[in-house]
Amino acid sequence: MKLVIAKDYAEMSRLAADEFFALVASKPDCVLGLATGSTPIGLYDCLVEDYEAGKISFADVTTFNLDEYRGLDPEHNQSYHYFMNEHLFSRVDIPAQSTHVPDGANPDSDAACSDYEAGIIAAGGVDLQLLGLGHNGHIGFNEPCDHFPVDTHVVKLTERTIQANSRLFDSIDEVPREAYTMGIGTIMKARRVVLVANGADKAQTVHDAFFGPVVPQVPASALQLHPDVTVIVDEEAGALCK
Ligand code: F6R
Repeated sequence: MKLVIAKDYAEMSRLAADEFFALVASKPDCVLGLATGSTPIGLYDCLVEDYEAGKISFADVTTFNLDEYRGLDPEHNQSYHYFMNEHLFSRVDIPAQSTHVPDGANPDSDAACSDYEAGIIAAGGVDLQLLGLGHNGHIGFNEPCDHFPVDTHVVKLTERTIQANSRLFDSIDEVPREAYTMGIGTIMKARRVVLVANGADKAQTVHDAFFGPVVPQVPASALQLHPDVTVIVDEEAGALCK
């Protein structure tokens, strides 16, 4: 594992974007694994800047996102699909059919999950997977539990997550109860992984995930067993790793 401590959020975002830039420049038809959440927004802005400056094209890139709420249409403004359109897809030249997000609108969860997993394999596997880090060590929607989930699967959201998400919806009844997520096994199959984390509130989690024991109660700790992981954090999130 390589740990990079950037001075602030802007530097973290630029350094992480550079990893994606270098891959897309050297392998224009690469397969990227992408994440939502607040952490990667700066990174996506950097890639859009590179695209607008004419330095990079996404015309031949294929993407697979980590996760999506079950029961939300891609057009719903709280869907992860919508987030990706807002922050990256609609701002660069990637063809819509080359972007993949688990199909939240598919009520057949077995089909939604197995189709997604098969799609990644058919595309040749993920070259570079981007991850954020949850406060409890989750990656994707893989929450702490007693085993590492292998493939893309359905997760039940905890009452705490449902409550927290309700601020983004008109009523708590509209908050999805389940989500689709790549499994830890899906993530571990990516050839390379870049994880980004910022802020003092992530410092303990970064330490536990990358310097603590490998246990499913801290899902991100599995990454210690991956052969090519770069963790890029700002000084605050890296404070306990010096
Ligand atoms: C998002 C995802 C989540 C987030 C994590 C951190 O697709 O899979 O695991 O990466 O919850 O979220 P932020 O970046 O908002 O702190």
